[in-house]
Amino acid sequence: MIAGVLSLLLLLRFNPATTVAAKMVLEDGYDVVTVLDGNKLQDSLGVLHPYSILPGTKKQHPHILLLDSVGSVFYTVPLPISQDGEIKVLVGKRGPGVAASAAGYSDGDASTATFNHPKSFAVDATGNVYVADRTNHVVRKISPSGETTTIAGGYRGRTGKIDGPAQNASFSSDFELVYIPYNCALLISGRGNSLIRQLNLKHDDCRHESQPGIGVSFVLIIATLSSIVAFITVFLARPFIAACAGTPRIQQDLESMPNQIGEDSTDELLRHQKRSC
Ligand SMILES: *[C@@H]1O[C@H](CO)[C@@H](O)[C@H](O)[C@H]1NC(C)=O
Repeated sequence: MIAGVLSLLLLLRFNPATTVAAKMVLEDGYDVVTVLDGNKLQDSLGVLHPYSILPGTKKQHPHILLLDSVGSVFYTVPLPISQDGEIKVLVGKRGPGVAASAAGYSDGDASTATFNHPKSFAVDATGNVYVADRTNHVVRKISPSGETTTIAGGYRGRTGKIDGPAQNASFSSDFELVYIPYNCALLISGRGNSLIRQLNLKHDDCRHESQPGIGVSFVLIIATLSSIVAFITVFLARPFIAACAGTPRIQQDLESMPNQIGEDSTDELLRHQKRSC
């Protein structure tokens, strides 16, 4: 209480004109560099309009995925990013000119697929790219092989907030996608409709994320190793069992005793052998 009053007094005395919210803490040690200028690309790409960027998933070829919303084109840009880097069109059609846009709605392979000013996209662990194709009011998927399909909203094609089978669902005119590996889903935040919606993906799409194959083989390896260790232990304990074969009564008592400290039967057997021999 007293401390509160004191700090209030201090605040009034030394900071009469500023509020606490205006406080800035300037942390040094960072720097900013322009690595690519879309206005200065001289080749066939013309001007590039970066709207949104995400890291790519191919470990052998580190790159980013870049969405040019004006042109409705997705690019791959190799890392580290430089003005001379080999920028490639992932999918979408590049028209000539500055505001080149070949916006449209066409699924298919990389050379035919078109989008209509998408403003958000997400990438799953397998490398599928999910596109909030908001002017077409659908969610599209670009597979790692470059094949584009419509995975949600295909039957409606207009704004709305209808849930249900994905192709029957409808979306707002401005929505954003995020891939959530935890439950193998896309979360859709609808700007303007106050809704968070979940689009459940196929398990194959999240395969590399949950890695069930590795999980199962890991369990198998542990189980096999445990069996081998148990077998060797029993094999080594054989002389003791043979040497103390004349004590059936104690063995029986021990067997009927509840094992309270969670030892397995091999431990119990060894303990019993030590005691009774
Ligand atoms: C989804 O849309 C299709 C095509 O309009 C229709 O045949 C089907 O009955 C719809 N399904 C549901 C669950 O609304």
